[in-house]
Amino acid sequence: APVMILNGPNLNLLGKRQPEIYGTDTLADVEAMCAEAAAAHGGTVDLRQSNHEGELVDWIHEARERHAGIVINPAAYTHTSIAILDALSTCDGLPVVEVHISNVHQREEFRRHSYVSQRADGIIVGCGVQGYVFGVERVAALVARG
Ligand code: DQA
Repeated sequence: APVMILNGPNLNLLGKRQPEIYGTDTLADVEAMCAEAAAAHGGTVDLRQSNHEGELVDWIHEARERHAGIVINPAAYTHTSIAILDALSTCDGLPVVEVHISNVHQREEFRRHSYVSQRADGIIVGCGVQGYVFGVERVAALVARG
């Protein structure tokens, strides 16, 4: 089963959006990097992005049935969404890794709290888009461990 890589609002503009904070790689670049990392473990990825909270919730429900694990950058919903936390909390036993491209602890105070972290098995912060690759590798390791 593929690793679901979910991206929240504004990440469709990755590469163009505040490049001094988020870098110049696009979401297509992230997908290619993650596909390569997954392939090294004999796996695949299913990368999606939405600007809509409910769509992300629906995709988490889909991952619950059909995916090996979830790598999620909930973007601004990290700091606001009990709905995304609750959706992840329905995924018993499914590996979940939370990724933030930027170091949220070096930025505004409101970015320091994450609802999603309560359910995440691991959290990767401030490693740029490489964080997604680490996330895929961590999901693969957790799946292999069983
Ligand atoms: C982000 C950090 C969030 O605070 C912000 O709202 C984002 C991106 C990151 O990847 O660094 O949109 O999740």
